[in-house]
Amino acid sequence: MKTLRTAALLAAALAATLTAPVAQAQATGKLKVGLMLPYTGTYAALGAAIENGFRLYVDEQGGKLGGREIEFVKVDDESDPAKATDNVNKLVKRDNVDVLVGTVHSGVAMAMAKVAKETGTLLLVPNAGADAVTGPMCAPNIFRSSFSNWQPGYAMGEVAAKKGHKKVVTITWKYAAGDESVRGFKDAFEKAGGQVVKELSLPFPNVEFQALLTEIAATKPDAVYTFFAGGGAVKFVKDYAAAGLKKNIPLYGAGFLTDGTLEAQGADADGLLTTLHYADSLNTPRDNAFRLAYAKAYKLQPDVYAVQGYDAAQMLGVGLAATKGDAGRKAEFAAALEKAKIDSPRGMFSISKAHNPVQDFYLRQVGSKENKVVGVAAKALADPARGCRM
Ligand code: PHB
Repeated sequence: MKTLRTAALLAAALAATLTAPVAQAQATGKLKVGLMLPYTGTYAALGAAIENGFRLYVDEQGGKLGGREIEFVKVDDESDPAKATDNVNKLVKRDNVDVLVGTVHSGVAMAMAKVAKETGTLLLVPNAGADAVTGPMCAPNIFRSSFSNWQPGYAMGEVAAKKGHKKVVTITWKYAAGDESVRGFKDAFEKAGGQVVKELSLPFPNVEFQALLTEIAATKPDAVYTFFAGGGAVKFVKDYAAAGLKKNIPLYGAGFLTDGTLEAQGADADGLLTTLHYADSLNTPRDNAFRLAYAKAYKLQPDVYAVQGYDAAQMLGVGLAATKGDAGRKAEFAAALEKAKIDSPRGMFSISKAHNPVQDFYLRQVGSKENKVVGVAAKALADPARGCRM
């Protein structure tokens, strides 16, 4: 009898020891970050800015996040969805990265999200807005430091309606980013009584806009809404002005239209109104410090892409601080980010349950080669996260 009771007590004690929280050890060695970004093509400058921003934050932390030295491996994804699965597998299977960071193009990001979901690799998306990444593809190990394509479009739809426009033509590249940006615009604009009368598009990354501009001239809408970015945005803004449309039909865009592009667009961009989660004249102590540090490090002015890269590194830092440098402790990593406030140059933002930023969208106007803040178009705007079950 006595021995039985002793045995039971021993078993209970053993069970208690086994289930007691064990203080986790600090992970050591270098943390391998796989940067998958476009270093060539129409989005090349965007990829460079993201990497610069990411490295700036890591450098500010003395080269370490969560107690671990950061090591980079890089792949040029060329913004080519057809090569995306091979490219991401190089990083995950060949290079064994701890974390994937990328990318700019929504179609490429979808392939990254699929591999991240299948392998459980941590993925931080520093630009691509594909709604699905924080929608149907959402996962505990997938995060975005940027926006969903729907967000800036929605903010501009409200602005255009408030300006009294009734009939709008949209023009964009035919892929997820363009389609979803237009959908966001339409959601807000049509809710407010406006109408999108024509949706024009051309394949990514084509820049033969002439026939479409002729069609806009013939349709005579009250205004035009557009999503273009990078090299394509430079050409579109110049062609819109050259076609004589700028003085007659107001052109509105998701802010990528004029971000990182103003040097090349020159006077053709003057006066353009766009919506985005960043601007050049925020004039907050946080942004001023960031802009100064960025300019000093790279002899360049930062743009929204640099901010998103910087914040992807900040988010990685938050998650790793909570997991003592172990990117594999996914539940704790996610819990830390879900309750974090990210002190971004754009302003403070939080991260939704679907892991997309909840943030303010500024209305900006181009003047003196800057995207100047006119006001806040949408405060603490959250993506609807359609289809995310987590
Ligand atoms: C995208 O493909 O999601 C994308 C690309 C460039 C941008 C914004 C979004 O500037």
